[in-house]
Amino acid sequence: MLPEPTERLTFRRMTGADLEAMAELLGNPDVMRYYPRPKSRAEAQAWIDWNLANYANDGFGLWVLHTTSDGSFVGDCGLTWQEVDGRRVLEIGYHVLPAHQGKGYATEAARACLDLALGPIGATHVTAIVNPDNLPSRRVAEHVGMNVETMTLDRDGRPIVVYALQRPVRSVSGS
Ligand SMILES: CC(C)(COP(=O)(O)OP(=O)(O)OC[C@H]1O[C@@H](n2cnc3c(N)ncnc32)[C@H](O)[C@@H]1OP(=O)(O)O)[C@@H](O)C(=O)NCCC(=O)NCCS
Repeated sequence: MLPEPTERLTFRRMTGADLEAMAELLGNPDVMRYYPRPKSRAEAQAWIDWNLANYANDGFGLWVLHTTSDGSFVGDCGLTWQEVDGRRVLEIGYHVLPAHQGKGYATEAARACLDLALGPIGATHVTAIVNPDNLPSRRVAEHVGMNVETMTLDRDGRPIVVYALQRPVRSVSGS
């Protein structure tokens, strides 16, 4: 299961061969500004392993993004299960290399993931969990039609804003 390619981006599963690119992405201090710290190479490997497990268990996870124009590595984007206040929620996540930021790529990729979630996956509730100060990430959530659902703390006590999109459930009553 993969999101449909967009006008400018393609999705593919992460593999062990992506360690170099993922370590560069997740080890970048700008990309990790709203995380406790940039990830080490070993942590980037753990990120890949987590996504391999996600593909096996759920059929989806974070995917690698490339440009359709020349195949450049852009970052990752995809769907994972997260826990918020003891509740399991489906989340769209995204990380884009600084050289590719500000081109609308995260918004374009997140839209494709949302289509997959609400379509083939059959989700009725999709979230984006964001540090309140992370304005670019908040804008991506807003651009794909999400609204602030709650403001709370993550497992480590850090503030988070939970954006969500709830698909309306159609009434089956004939009245
Ligand atoms: C969040 C992130 C994925 C957005 O990627 P992107 O491809 O640049 O996003 P888009 O181009 O679709 O733009 C989304 C918004 O971010 C803004 N933005 C993008 N780059 C920016 C920058 N360097 N500084 C300030 N704002 C920026 C855009 O202007 C846009 O907002 P607007 O529509 O109001 O103008 C990217 O900034 C990133 O990788 N950040 C670090 C990782 C991260 O925090 N991920 C989210 C974890 S919840």
